[in-house]
Amino acid sequence: MKNIIVAIDGYSSCGKSTIAKGLAQKLDYIFIDTGAMYRATTLYFLDNGVDFNDSKAVETALNNISIHFEKKGDQIITFLNGQNVENDIRTMRVSQSVSPVATISAVRRAMVREQQAMGKLKNVVLDGRDIGTVVFPDAELKLFITADPDIRAQRRVLELKKKGQKVDFKAVKTNLLERDHIDSSRADSPLRQADDATVIDTTHLQLEEQLEMVYELALEKIER
Ligand code: DC
Repeated sequence: MKNIIVAIDGYSSCGKSTIAKGLAQKLDYIFIDTGAMYRATTLYFLDNGVDFNDSKAVETALNNISIHFEKKGDQIITFLNGQNVENDIRTMRVSQSVSPVATISAVRRAMVREQQAMGKLKNVVLDGRDIGTVVFPDAELKLFITADPDIRAQRRVLELKKKGQKVDFKAVKTNLLERDHIDSSRADSPLRQADDATVIDTTHLQLEEQLEMVYELALEKIER
């Protein structure tokens, strides 16, 4: 059986990470949440008062950032400079600044370099916005995930509430749509569907159905 790269892209809160994590588990592959890397970088910028418009300050900050993931049971935890930041990177404070930070080319170059190194041995499932178009344009399987914006906002509200955060549906939906707009219209590696991606609309699909569908698609590529 050969190893493959699975590239999963799509809009915010479509369930990309959940699908990617579930698929990686089924295949016994490594899951890389690239959004978490942009979020951890944003958290560092916010906590250290890095001016997003100051290219020198951004370069210096990038040299001081080290991000890694650790598996704990069936959870993947994001670490920033050795500290567990998994909860901090999911707050509205970070969500509101992450898309502007992700427009900075120096930031993208640093993240893409790391992601390509992590996927060198293949056997990886990555989710993000530019995986099938920029990070791994030759990925064997590319998926583009979509869902109705109201359903996406509802799912995100539930997720944040489960984590004990107080959230408002309207604010969450506005943030999702704003991020989609910034992510799709930025000059450097905008979010777009790769020509050879398979589109999956998760609006009316249960997680199990989504997983079964992507697992079959992955097996086809692996056994080919
Ligand atoms: O997947 P997420 O919602 O956690 O991602 C947070 C932000 O990071 C998203 O709004 C855009 C940016 N991002 C990106 O530009 N490229 C990626 N590969 C992943 C995320």
